[in-house]
Amino acid sequence: MSEVSAAFDALRHYRDETKDIPIADRFETDPDRFSRFSIDAEGILLDYSKTHLSDRAKRLLIALAKAADVEGQRDKMVSGKPINLTEGRAVLHTALRAPRNASLILDGRNIVKDVQRVLDRMNEFSRRVRSGALTGADGQAFTDVVNIGIGGSDLGPAMATAALAPFHDGPRVHFVSNVDGAHIHGTLKTLDPKTTLILIASKTFTTIETMTNAETARKWLEAGVGSAVDRHLAAISTALDKTEAFGIPEDRVFGFWDWVGGRYSVWSAIGLSLMIAIGPDRFRAFLDGAHAIDRHFCQEPPENNLPIMLGLIGVWHRNICDWPTRAVLPYDQRLNRLPAYLQQLDMESNGKSVRESGEALTEASGPVVWGEPGTNGQHAFYQLLHQGMSVIPAEFLVAAKGHETDLDHQHVLLLANCLAQSEALMRGKTTDAVRKEMIASGRAVEDAEALAPHRTFPGNRPSVTLLYPTLDPVMLGKIIALYEHRVFVEAAIWGINAFDQWGVELGKTLAKELAPHLNGANASVAPASSRGIIRAVRHRRELA
Ligand code: F6P
Repeated sequence: MSEVSAAFDALRHYRDETKDIPIADRFETDPDRFSRFSIDAEGILLDYSKTHLSDRAKRLLIALAKAADVEGQRDKMVSGKPINLTEGRAVLHTALRAPRNASLILDGRNIVKDVQRVLDRMNEFSRRVRSGALTGADGQAFTDVVNIGIGGSDLGPAMATAALAPFHDGPRVHFVSNVDGAHIHGTLKTLDPKTTLILIASKTFTTIETMTNAETARKWLEAGVGSAVDRHLAAISTALDKTEAFGIPEDRVFGFWDWVGGRYSVWSAIGLSLMIAIGPDRFRAFLDGAHAIDRHFCQEPPENNLPIMLGLIGVWHRNICDWPTRAVLPYDQRLNRLPAYLQQLDMESNGKSVRESGEALTEASGPVVWGEPGTNGQHAFYQLLHQGMSVIPAEFLVAAKGHETDLDHQHVLLLANCLAQSEALMRGKTTDAVRKEMIASGRAVEDAEALAPHRTFPGNRPSVTLLYPTLDPVMLGKIIALYEHRVFVEAAIWGINAFDQWGVELGKTLAKELAPHLNGANASVAPASSRGIIRAVRHRRELA
């Protein structure tokens, strides 16, 4: 048996012995629980006291991390070893946020210098867009910027631009991702091509959704500004031959590298739309925040290490408790795109069934990640969190202070709701307590008997809370880097490559195969399994 399997077994054995101890009881017997089951570092408080973890479980989890050599795997990643084996690539998004004077040699080049060179160009470009020095064809400043991209070329900058709205002092920024014409149409119809700058963001510059939307945008620009479309376009990609073929002038192309995964690319030129929104200095602060977490991840021992402990809690819930989903619940309206961002980061990275070696996994891997900002979620799906048949570990995120200082009373209410939810999930309410409460308030005994089961909460449902002072560029950088490394820690324990995404390919290939049948090619030669629906689609398209 491998050391990792033995460590998993020890954890399962321990869980079997202790699973009847309610979380709430652990607080009663241990007044110090909060201080031993929380980490306060880099301005982030990670409170994991409302989980089933005990000191022994924590030790066993750390032993699992040691057995899987999480720290050794981390060191390989940050030093540029080609750990993305199926694509033969290093994984160096950490280099994108390294300080200017750092050095990291990959294939004989100091890649930090390359990063800084592109950052300098982005800084200059965004300053000129923001100041109005860079104009459209007729000399007007840009009032609007549209980022066309999808997946990692959309979610990162879109999420971060929404999160940092209080710092947005540049032109308006819009994001178009879906190939559904409704998305680009709905965006462009509100804009004036003469004052719009289009950024085409695609690592590969082959993604069908992005290239189709880019063509539509180019036609829209041509109709509005004539042949001078160049002055309204810029591209962000690793495929410089393809940006050239698309006709984007070299000085309007911002490159990055194959060692930056799409879902890890918000720190690269893919963040240009964000930089234009908040300015280069705040973008640098965003990078600095992420770098602070990189240092923390590399230097702190596991028990004080935010990403390692968050990853281990994830493994505890996924593998030891066998809970297949986790809810991310930001009590921060501006983080409303965080769940979608984390869905790509986490599920595209860890939604795998084989180990790096190609052998089938014997342990479950990435959970389903989902969520919505609180308090909206409270009035939608929290019913199931509290009384549903499945246990869903919850992750709450909340700022101690909001930006709306004149509405601080609302922020206090937001905080109270956040804390109340984790407390309610853990504490629950027994049938007996409900019954007594109802009778004390004057309800008839029969009513109390009948209603009590409906009003009972099982409780004992775990959650973690991430508390931060306020959401600013530095803190957002920290939060995102923390989640990136958490995903890495979990992947390292499961032994999977978190940096490829072969699972997205089959559907793309089949879409290309099926499209001609929808467009008029003989439906009778379409795959039998789709023939019926293709005919139905064609029929309805004729009628519509
Ligand atoms: O289809 C998945 C994916 O490859 C993601 O990994 C990536 O972020 C997205 O598509 C967009 O890719 P690109 O930046 O190459 O257009």
